[in-house]
Amino acid sequence: MSKKVVIAFEGIEGSGKTFHINYVSNYLEKKKIDHIKLREPGGSKNSEKIRKLILNKKSNFNKNTDLLLYLSSRSENIEYIKKFYKKKIILLDRFTDSTIAYQHYGMGVNLTILKKINNYLLKNFKVDFTFLYIVNKKNMKKRLQQRKSLNRYDKFNDKFYKKVQNGFLKIAKEKKRVYQIIDSNLSIKLNKKIIINKLNKIIK
Ligand code: TMP
Repeated sequence: MSKKVVIAFEGIEGSGKTFHINYVSNYLEKKKIDHIKLREPGGSKNSEKIRKLILNKKSNFNKNTDLLLYLSSRSENIEYIKKFYKKKIILLDRFTDSTIAYQHYGMGVNLTILKKINNYLLKNFKVDFTFLYIVNKKNMKKRLQQRKSLNRYDKFNDKFYKKVQNGFLKIAKEKKRVYQIIDSNLSIKLNKKIIINKLNKIIK
C-alpha cells in the first residue's frame, strides 16, 4: 500500500515541471498506483474556463484581478481535489506556491490578503511534498522558443521571472514542509532518476 500523499510540482516557465509530472504520473500508472493529476490554473471543467480567461493573450487584467482569478480557479478545483484527499495520491502541476511566487514576489500583490483567501479555500488540505524546478535564463528562453504558442504569462521580461524564481526559493527556505529542488539545467535522465528515487521514498 502506498501513502496517499499530495505532491506539488512548482517552478517558472520552461523549468520542466510539466514534463516531470507527466513522467511521474506514467510511472505510477505502470505500477498500478491510484492517483490523480491536476494542473492550475485549470484542471477541473470550470477551472479550465477561468484558465482561458486569465492566460488569453488579449486579457489585460490588473494584478489584483489576476490574483482573484487564480484563486477562483483554485476554488473550483479544491472541491474536486478534496474528494481524493488521503484516498489517492494527488499530483498538482502548480498550487499555492505559484500564487505566492508570481502574484506576491513577481507582481507585488499583498501577501496577507493572498494567504487569507487561499487558506479559507484550502481549510485543512495541505501539500506534503514539493518538487521545485529551477532553470537558468538561457535554458528557459530556449524552451519557451520551442513552444508552439505562448500565453499571456509566457511573455514577461527576464527580470520578472528572476523575481518569481527567487520567490519560489524563498518560500522553500521558509517553509517547514519538505521540498526537493530540481536543477533543470542538468540532464533529464539524471533528474528522472532523482525524482523517482524521491517519489518511492515519499509514498513508501
Ligand atoms: P503553466 O504555464 O504552468 O500552465 O501556468 C500558467 C501560468 O499561470 C504560469 O505563468 C504561472 C501562472 N500562475 C500564477 O501566476 N499564479 C498561480 O497561482 C498559478 C497557479 C499560476
